[in-house]
Amino acid sequence: MPPINVSAVSSAPAQTAADTRVVPLFEGEPLAEAELQALVDLGEARAGVGKVAVDHEDAPGGGRRRVLIAGLGKRHEVGAEAAREAAAAVAARARDLRAVSLSWDAPEGLDAPIVEGTLLRLYRFDRFKSKDEEADDDNDGLESLEIAGAGVDAVRVERGRVSATAQNAARDLQNTPANVATPSFLAARAEQIAAEHAALEVEVLDREAIATRGMGAFAAVAQGTYEEPRLIVLRYTGGSNGPHLGFVGKAVTFDTGGISLKPGAKLAEMKFDMSGGAAVLEAVNAIAALGLPVTITAVVPSTENMPSGRSVKPGDIVTAMNGKTIEVNNTDAEGRLILADALCYAREQGAERIVDLATLTGAIIVALGSTHAGLFSNDDDWFAAVDAAATSSGEIGWRLPLHKEYRKLVKGRYADLDNAPEGRKASSITAAEFLHAFVGEVPWVHIDIAGTAWDLDRPYISGKAAGFGTRLLIELAGQSAVGV
Ligand code: BES
Ligand code: MN
Ligand code: ZN
Repeated sequence: MPPINVSAVSSAPAQTAADTRVVPLFEGEPLAEAELQALVDLGEARAGVGKVAVDHEDAPGGGRRRVLIAGLGKRHEVGAEAAREAAAAVAARARDLRAVSLSWDAPEGLDAPIVEGTLLRLYRFDRFKSKDEEADDDNDGLESLEIAGAGVDAVRVERGRVSATAQNAARDLQNTPANVATPSFLAARAEQIAAEHAALEVEVLDREAIATRGMGAFAAVAQGTYEEPRLIVLRYTGGSNGPHLGFVGKAVTFDTGGISLKPGAKLAEMKFDMSGGAAVLEAVNAIAALGLPVTITAVVPSTENMPSGRSVKPGDIVTAMNGKTIEVNNTDAEGRLILADALCYAREQGAERIVDLATLTGAIIVALGSTHAGLFSNDDDWFAAVDAAATSSGEIGWRLPLHKEYRKLVKGRYADLDNAPEGRKASSITAAEFLHAFVGEVPWVHIDIAGTAWDLDRPYISGKAAGFGTRLLIELAGQSAVGV
């Protein structure tokens, strides 16, 4: 899919040269053009969010062109999320109609979300498909998206474009199968990202360096696989005096469960167990492209989790980078093991505010489904900042508690910690309490994205992989840059 050219123009929307223009429709507000209002009167054009009606008119430069009437609901209720939904519905219809150039008459403040909804909805992953000449939907697709109108802000439009493009890049990493998207592949992607920006530095630790650094928990997960593990680190120095941010993302490129083998159903989905890492890498790329004035250390531990004669076994005791010992009672609770060392490393590198993204527990799907991610935090102020970024990006979360009583549940019988307490009590929370033991007093938010990474309920996300969290991190960096 070639990139879509996105631009902001301040000229009158009706003057556009695009083959398809979009007119917003709010409930109870007549449209200025009588012909379009006639479609509203007929009941064909409706104001509900996501409704789209089609009309045709003479184009200013001669010939005919399409007009799409896009429902946006009530003007006083419309927000970024409604704009993403409306833009997605328009994008899908425009693709069906074989539009090549689209111009949106964007209502005040909705310019960036309209760009996001359009680009996210048009995402496809067809890298591994042979070209099908017969396919009905096989067109070249949209080439350009113009955001028009007096209130349009070119900087916001560009931010929307870069953010949605990064999210789609994270979806590419997620969708790429595990025989291709290995830890080395992700490390190569990080190196490529770093090479594109002067303010970025990359560091990659291999199996030996991981062991030498004392990352015994990470090394234990990686010991069962032939595939080489990587600890991927991106350092971004955007020039700021604000707090040093640490972004940590779980990147298990395939999770079989290890010796505690998973059942076969839906096992193919476990290629998505690197979704947190994908979002972190591509978010940092976008933040560097936007030149946001923040300091970030991103840490992405990446490995496969495989059963073999060398695998870590239930009952084995390993030692994490901070000296804490861990009983590995379930090898399928591998995410918290690799994150334990990654969190220690982020702290060692000077991170003062940490956020981690991880497809950590099946239980979070039971609790929150695919609408909210699970949020956990040891600091109310940092939580508020992350939650605000989540709300603004539409990657919403719901906070669950940490408590010393839950912390007791992750104490080990023979070692300091147990990676998988018996029973099914609060297992998303105990996973978070396990991570809590490795962040100490540093303000930290853990985002469990097991339910949202590839089954996200959003009308503007097509297909499975959602790139969830990518725009949240970019938004968070943007907020931190202005000192929120
Ligand atoms: N990657 C899984 C969590 C997961 C499961 C994500 C299903 C998405 C869909 C994680 O590594 C895992 O296996 N967690 C276990 C932990 C348990 C053994 C304590 C789980 O949630 O069952
Ligand atoms: Mn697992
Ligand atoms: Zn996992």
